[in-house]
Amino acid sequence: MNDLEKHFTENTGRMIHKWKHYFEIYDRHFARFRGTDVHVVEFGVFQGGSLQMWKEYFGPKAKIFGVDINPLCKKLEEEQIEILIGDQQDRKFLRSLKNKVPRIDILIDDGGHTMKQQINTYEELFFCISDNGVYLCEDLHTSYWPEYGGGYKKSNTFINYSKNFIDHINAWHSRQRRLRVTEFTKSVHSLHYYDSILVIEKRPIEKPFHLKTGKQEIPESFLPRRKILLNHLKGWLKKKTAL
Ligand SMILES: C[S@@+](CC[C@H](N)C(=O)[O-])C[C@H]1O[C@@H](n2cnc3c(N)ncnc32)[C@H](O)[C@@H]1O
Repeated sequence: MNDLEKHFTENTGRMIHKWKHYFEIYDRHFARFRGTDVHVVEFGVFQGGSLQMWKEYFGPKAKIFGVDINPLCKKLEEEQIEILIGDQQDRKFLRSLKNKVPRIDILIDDGGHTMKQQINTYEELFFCISDNGVYLCEDLHTSYWPEYGGGYKKSNTFINYSKNFIDHINAWHSRQRRLRVTEFTKSVHSLHYYDSILVIEKRPIEKPFHLKTGKQEIPESFLPRRKILLNHLKGWLKKKTAL
């Protein structure tokens, strides 16, 4: 059991509401920030218990920001914990957070969980996350629940929307104009999909390259890659001459 799960299990303070399997995921992606002056923003304050959990986990240098639509949450502020009141679906409010929070290293979206809220929050704040930061959106099962705007293979769910991210981290290799290297390609190291959670790990990315080392044992002409290229060329010529 990691420290987060231990805190949760033994919690007698403010209420926390989390799925049990999330703790392993949090610890896997957040551990490197412990003991630093990390700035964490969590959408969804509820009773304030998770903000206290982050405070204990990240340590005395951390700054925790909670965001919630419920004005009553404001009274849950304490040392190291600041609470901002507003609607995460409202793009204007989301943009205003950029001036209220000096830096975001980790963003956890545990707010209202509707498709619009998740997508607007991502679109307005993802590129504000620091270069080596982490974006974590949880409770993605709402992408399958009609009352939240979800449904299997429905086009505007957060899950479906996020599937484009897979293309964008691979855009370096695209030979089609429709898929180009973007800011996302250059700033995202990896996407981690779990049950109900997507974690996006940021890191400045250089154009990838590959190398060969060691002695060549099999002549180039016997390698399958050459055959693939030749077949492709043959097919292309056949099409051209048929025109
Ligand atoms: C699942 S609870 C948060 C749980 C909390 N993070 C925890 O771990 O204990 C969801 C919270 O999101 C808030 N919320 C719902 N809709 C919201 C919205 N549109 N904008 C901001 N917060 C919202 C609710 O008021 C509620 O406190």
